[in-house]
Order: sequence, then structure tokens, then C-alpha cells
Amino acid sequence: MISRITSYDQYKTAYERSLYDADNFWAEVAAGYHWRKMWDRVHSGGFEKVDYKWFEGARLNITVNCLDRHLESFADKTAIIWEPNDPDEAGRRLSYRELHREVCKFSNVLKQLGVTKGDTVCIYMPMIPELAVAMLACARVGAIHSIVFGGFSAQSLSGRIQDAECKLLITADGFYRGDKAVHLKNMADEALQDCPSIKNVIIYRRSNAEISIMAGRDLFWDQLMASASDQHEAEIMDAEDPLFILYTSGSTGKPKGVVHTTAGYMVYVGYTFLNVFQYREHEVYWCTADIGWITGHSYVVYGPLLNGATTLMYEGIPAYPDWSRWWKIISKYSVDIFYTAPTAIRSFQAQGEEHLQGADLSSLRLLGSVGEPINEEAWEWYHRQIGKEHCPIVDTWWQTETGGILITSLGGVTPAKPSFATLPFPGIEPVIVDTNGVLQNDLVAEGNLCIRRSWPGQARTVYKDHDRFIKTYFTTYRGMYFTGDGCRRDDDGFYRITGRVDDVIKVSGHRIGTAEVESAINEHPDVVESAVVPIPHEIKGEAIIAFVICRGENEATDQARAMQQLEHEVIQTVSKTVGPIAKPEKVYMVSGLPKTRSGKIMRRILRKIAEGHPDQTGDISTLLNPEIVDEIKRMVAASMPAK
Ligand code: WTA
Repeated sequence: MISRITSYDQYKTAYERSLYDADNFWAEVAAGYHWRKMWDRVHSGGFEKVDYKWFEGARLNITVNCLDRHLESFADKTAIIWEPNDPDEAGRRLSYRELHREVCKFSNVLKQLGVTKGDTVCIYMPMIPELAVAMLACARVGAIHSIVFGGFSAQSLSGRIQDAECKLLITADGFYRGDKAVHLKNMADEALQDCPSIKNVIIYRRSNAEISIMAGRDLFWDQLMASASDQHEAEIMDAEDPLFILYTSGSTGKPKGVVHTTAGYMVYVGYTFLNVFQYREHEVYWCTADIGWITGHSYVVYGPLLNGATTLMYEGIPAYPDWSRWWKIISKYSVDIFYTAPTAIRSFQAQGEEHLQGADLSSLRLLGSVGEPINEEAWEWYHRQIGKEHCPIVDTWWQTETGGILITSLGGVTPAKPSFATLPFPGIEPVIVDTNGVLQNDLVAEGNLCIRRSWPGQARTVYKDHDRFIKTYFTTYRGMYFTGDGCRRDDDGFYRITGRVDDVIKVSGHRIGTAEVESAINEHPDVVESAVVPIPHEIKGEAIIAFVICRGENEATDQARAMQQLEHEVIQTVSKTVGPIAKPEKVYMVSGLPKTRSGKIMRRILRKIAEGHPDQTGDISTLLNPEIVDEIKRMVAASMPAK
């Protein structure tokens, strides 16, 4: 087993050593895992050529480390606690032995269907234990899983399946999110109309909804499992074999298929889980993220299981049947460690403390935050109302591309400070640069956040597009990984992440690219051009505002209604094309968009106006069409509530 850092001094020593003696540091961490063959080199390559590798030459299977390895010492320990959406439905518990057995059986199912090493498999499922079983079975047979969040639209699903050329889709008939039925299989059917690579679909029966079945292609989970053997020898993978693809939004173009590989990801995620959350043997850990996001991959499934932890999965939403549900879950299972997003904390704060009454939160030892900056007020509320002023809070900063947590405190071990992610994890060398790439070496500094050296959990490439990977992350600032985030360093050397400095929007912690939303809006037949920008939102952190140029003139009398109708349609188009999470909060119909002389839309100006700071648009005289700025200002001002 890997060892834990248990004091601030130990952290400082470990951190220093992780930089000056990096290879030995990581070799010692890695020695705590099970390897079929040890590595030839701990680390090679770098950011110049973007060819970094970790534990090259090693051979292993990550599921042996998540499952088989624990069977000797604690086979009967609960691996997964599952809480269904409906509080009246019975929950489930899977011990390590049972989870291992299910994964072995499903691995045999995959094998039988011809899925082999290097194949890509798409998973589009609700938050049920079978989602974890499906992903682990893929990893066990050496297939690359690509999990698509169940809230994404059919079109998003189909784009992701096509890009990764998935051979198999694993899904469910449907499920309930709160009191709303989600018809997953119908969406999958729609998506599969243009996915010729898919040979089979495996359907887990969750809602027993009526679904259509395509003979020869569609198969049922339970039938396949009924005859599958529970004996399965894990495929032995190379350290640098891809483990999974996860699509995420960036500044431009379609979502990118970020690729994580086997050994480095395993070592990093397991080690961060243990140290950040200071996990202890009998604790129950609950991360509220959906497995469809990186937080779910790394800290609902892989991180906890690598450490033999008990991880809780909840199928539903925070407000169902009412706002006391999460606290009841914590009481019911005596949760020790709770990890969630600031947007959820702010929602609870807004709902009032009465929902906490009657819930016993005394089991909680540690709280975590992830996904977006946490404002001081929310931090204080979390600390007081949930942590009862005795639970340390870890504010964990990281990204899909980083695989695991990079800047954070270690729960109760290193200092915390409201709204600061604080200090880098061992092995992480953050730097702050100005927009010209000049390093800001003073202790107190502000600018763009970059990372100067590789760490084991770092993404290796964008699926089948290494040039895009290089261009996106390694060309803005030479020799550095650019995070896309702005940050500040205070006189304690603590980092405070201030938010994205690129065209990425974080709505309720969900990462959405402006380009993606704009291209969805542009699919509406009446739309000529559009631009979307974020504005601060009290609960969601950020909300999306769209400025849209439409075709055709409307009769003056009908204009207001026609506009309303169009606004509604534009919002629906985004919901259908990307998914409901990307819906604009407000759509402005404008006759033009501010552009530079080279035709580039000045989103910065739109953003200032949408935020309610029309006086801060800066110099607009060099614009191609400065007159449009006044029109937009008037329109936005008219729609804002009077102060
Ligand atoms: C933001 C989520 C401030 C940040 C794990 C980053 C945060 C983006 C924090 C990645 C935090 C994540 N404080 N901002 N603790 N954690 N972010 O890929 O802007 O969905 O770049 O990964 O979320 O989002 P992603």
C-alpha cells in the first residue's frame, strides 16, 4: 500500500523531494501498486516535444489494483454503496468480492462480443453500479472506455461515438432523475442512426420503460451476464496504453477526446485520493459527481477503489424528493468524507438551513470542493453548516486534462484558506505568467496559470489529433502546459484560482465551450451569426448569455412576440444539440456583433455589457462597427431589472 503524508513538515519535505529527486519520489509511490513487470524508466520526454511518458516498460492492469489486490485482505469490505433516485427503493452494497465477480463476468461478456485490447467502447448510463462495472470491465480487457454523461443530447453522443469510432455502446433503457424520466435508449437509438462503427448495444434494464430493439444489434445485460463465467484473467497492458477517452470542451471547435493512459493515471489518482482526503480504512467516502465527468472517473471510481475505500454512488439529484435528501444520505450511511461542487453548496445555502434539521452530520470528518472557484460566503456556509466548524475543507483545483488534483490542501494536514486552493500537490510545479509568457517570479503575483513539468496523471494526447493537443496546451507559452485558468498567489504562496481566461464557461461546474454553443445556435434556420459570453450567476457560478443575429424583418406589431418565440427556439436548439446544461440564460436578438477589422467577434465587449458594466467596454473606436455597441448597450439595459 502507498504511504500517507501526515504532517505539514512531511508535506514540505515530500514536495521538495518530488521536484529535485522526482524519479525516485514517483518510483517509491508507484512501488505501492501491483505490477506484472516493473518499469524500465520512471519518466522520459517533456513539454518541448510533448512526448512525455511515465513508467515506460511497465506492465499491469489497473483493475487488478482496484479489485484483485484487495481480495486477500478485505474481500468482504463494501466497495460501492449505491443509493437510488427514489428514497423508497432499496439501495445496494457491493463488496470487493462481488464487484470483482461482476467485473470478471462482464469482461467475459465483452470478450464474447469480440471486444479486445485497443477497441473503443462508449458508455452512456445512469449513476448505477453497472456503470462502474462496465468501465472496469473495459479496463480489464484492455478496451478504451469513452463515457458520455447521461445528460448529453443524442447529437452529442453520436459525435463522440463517431470521433472515437466506438465498436460497442453500453446503455440503459432509461432512468429517473428526480421525478423526470430520462429515455436513454431512445436517445441512443437516435444517436446511432449515424454511427456505423457500433456493432452491438448492451442495454441494462433500469426503468423497464418500453424501448425498441434492433434484432442482431441490441442485447440485454442480464441475459448476457446469466451465462457468463466469473473467472477472468486480466489483460496485461503496457504502462502507456490508453485507459480512457473523455470528451471535454475547449475554446474552439468541437469537444476534444482527452486521452489518459494506464500506469501514470493509476499512480497519480490513487496517491492524490489517499493524501488529499486522508482516507482511513473504515471510512465511507461520497463524491457527488456523475461518473460521466472526470471527477467521477478519478474520485468516484478509480481513486477510491485503488485505495480499497468504500465509495458511495447516488443516482439522483440534490433536490429530490426535497432539499434534505443529501443530508439524509450522509446520516443513513454515516459518510465520513464528502466531496461536492460550489454550485451545489450555493443552492443549499439559498434554500435555507431548515433542510438540515433532523439530519445527523456528526459522521463527517472532511469536506471537499471541486469544479469552479468557491466564493468565501459559500466556503463559510459549508464550513459552519455542514462541517460544524470542525471538518477541514479541501478546495481541489484540477481539470479533465490533469487526470487528478493538482493544487489543494491535504485535509487537516496542510493549511486551508477560504477560496484558495492553496498549495501544489507533490510533483506539481505551478508558475504564473503574464500574457506575454513572462514568468511572474515574485511571491505575490497574478496572471495565467501554467505547469512547468509533467506529472504522471497528465493527459497524453487528444484522440487521433496530437497536433490539436500540442496547439491547445503547449504553444501559448513555450515549454509549459497552459491551464486556461487565471490565478493569484498571495504572500503565503497560496494559489487562488480566479476562473477561465479563455472561451470556456463553467455553468454549475459543467465545462462548456462558447464555440460549441454558438455552433448549436447557428443550426437554427433563422440564425445568421451568434456569440455567447458568460456572466456571473449567484448559484451556477456562471450563466450563458447569447447575442444572436437573425435573418429577415418582422412586422413591427409582431416583433416582440416573434422575438420571444425565436428566443425560445434558440434555447431549445442548444438543449437538443448539446444538452440542457448548455442552455443560454438569456438571448438577445441584435442587428450586428462588435467585430475587429479582421472580422473577429469582440466577446470581451459583449461580456462587459452583459455583466452590467457598459461603461467598461474600453476603446471601441478601432472596431469595424462601433455603432453596434450602443445598440447592444441599450437593449441589455432595457432588459435588466431596475436597480
Ligand atoms: C475549474 C473539473 C477553481 C477551472 C475537475 C478548471 C476550479 C476547470 C476548481 C476544469 C477549483 C476546477 N477552484 N476552479 N477548485 N476545480 N476548476 O475539466 O476553471 O470539468 O480549468 O475538471 O474547472 O474543469 P473540468
